[in-house]
Amino acid sequence: MISRYDNYDLSRQNTFRMKVSCRCYIEYGSIEDLKGLDFDSLPQPVISIGEGSNLLFTGDFPGTVLRSRIDYIKYFDVGADTVPLAVGAGVNWDELVEKTCNDGLWGLENLSLIPGTAGAAAVQNIGAYGVEAKDVIVGVTCFDITTREKTAFKQEQCRYGYRDSIFKDPQYKGRYIVTGVLLRLSREPRPQIAYGALKQVFAEEAPQSPMQVREAIIRIRREKLPDPQEIGSAGSFFKNPVVSASQFLKISEGYENVPHYVLEGGFIKIPAAWMIEQCGFKGAVRGGAAVYAKQPLVIVNNSGEATSQEIISLEQEVIDAVQKRFGVQLHPEVEHL
Ligand code: EPU
Repeated sequence: MISRYDNYDLSRQNTFRMKVSCRCYIEYGSIEDLKGLDFDSLPQPVISIGEGSNLLFTGDFPGTVLRSRIDYIKYFDVGADTVPLAVGAGVNWDELVEKTCNDGLWGLENLSLIPGTAGAAAVQNIGAYGVEAKDVIVGVTCFDITTREKTAFKQEQCRYGYRDSIFKDPQYKGRYIVTGVLLRLSREPRPQIAYGALKQVFAEEAPQSPMQVREAIIRIRREKLPDPQEIGSAGSFFKNPVVSASQFLKISEGYENVPHYVLEGGFIKIPAAWMIEQCGFKGAVRGGAAVYAKQPLVIVNNSGEATSQEIISLEQEVIDAVQKRFGVQLHPEVEHL
């Protein structure tokens, strides 16, 4: 079923709660609905959003915003050790995680409480506490705007990287609309609890169920991330920068312990949160915008009335300060539209 609205208010379609609108807003419930759309006649550009939890609208959007309401969850081979499941792109991610944990399946528990939809999770390769969506994704189904047909990508074809995939590449983004995700979960216990904060929780006794891990993750996240019901944000605003070993040595000068993670090839990932904190931005307020005090990687709509301009100028101030102090360029994780 298609619903179309003109000059649509997007304040409830973006978790930053920017008061913006779009020329045209369309919700659809199936691939058949997409086949019936005349894309050329829609206000351009045409973009797809999930729950708008990783977006910053920098003003009213002149084009068309598409929102999937494809919302099935289908299990195959429920009794087997590995359980494949197909999920519609419009399914709320955390409802999916809650359901699979309730059903005793391992794989999604570390990705609990992340806002957004299953489709967006596959585009963005969401990640938290040592797990990324790509670890459980087997394939992604799409609607190809050019051929007007359904098509499928195997996991290897999705070119997954750190918060990245082929679906973010401008060349593909305009062409493919993600309609479904195929996942593979496990009935066999597979706890991933090596990540600092989780390790502490389960130091005495290993988790017995995915729900136990989910509950621990929810507690950890609630302690340091803003509740989307209470305060607008788009989660982590910046990506964690990756530097060379020699750059890392330079950055470390004058600090006793710089938190870091060594990656393949000797590259080093430094938490942007640490750099932002060192630059004195923890809790910094600029007009309606602020750097979240409990987790400086997050920029929040502090007053509830922040303008995109206030968010962007705070973003730039943080980027400039980190560049000046550490010689490192921060890149936003949040997509600007
Ligand atoms: N840190 C500080 N000061 C602070 C907070 C953190 O120095 O006030 C340092 C600490 O050293 C800490 C490190 O930053 O150990 C990393 O912090 P954390 O473990 O909270 O993770 P993160 O790098 O800030 C990433 C993801 C999150 C994900 C968490 C947990 C990115 C951009 N963000 O954040 O994802 O939940 O790891 O795995 O990779 C998101 O993408 O929106 C998101 C929230």
